[in-house]
Amino acid sequence: MEKTFVLVKPDGVQRGLVGEIIARLERRGLRLVAAKFMAVSQELAETHYGIHKERPFYASLIEYITSAPVMAMVWEGPNAVAAVRQTMGATKPTEAAPGSVRHDFGLEIGRNITHASDSVENGQLETKLWFKAEELVTWQRDVDRWIFE
Ligand code: RTP
Ligand code: MG
Repeated sequence: MEKTFVLVKPDGVQRGLVGEIIARLERRGLRLVAAKFMAVSQELAETHYGIHKERPFYASLIEYITSAPVMAMVWEGPNAVAAVRQTMGATKPTEAAPGSVRHDFGLEIGRNITHASDSVENGQLETKLWFKAEELVTWQRDVDRWIFE
């Protein structure tokens, strides 16, 4: 089953949106695999956002993501990567589709509430970066056959 890595970023946690975001992913039919409420170290932040190291917003991005606790999660389902990106909406909240998390709760790109992996490969890499193998739960729900074809 395809997996994707999701973060409720510090602004989402501070604003009390953890439950709202989990509820939306559950309601969509995705299955939770792992979850961890945690502080993000400088080192983890720099590894996670290593691809943006040369970008002008890198320093503020690292400061943002390490500024307060986050909720780190892994979710799975058919096309989980694309489905979760769609639920979160475009990076810039003013370009995010109405009904998406970033549209419904956000205004600024540097306070866009969530992270979600942008490819299946990055979903696997980020899951490995944030979670130990034994923290991932393999399970079935009785309702799965009504959601997964
Ligand atoms: P994320 O990685 O956080 O899920 O967001 P994303 O894929 O939609 O966007 P990405 O291009 O990977 O950018 C990572 C995060 O950096 C911040 N950002 N700021 N000021 C800017 O121009 C700018 N561009 C990106 C955002 O917080 C974005 O989520
Ligand atoms: Mg990204």
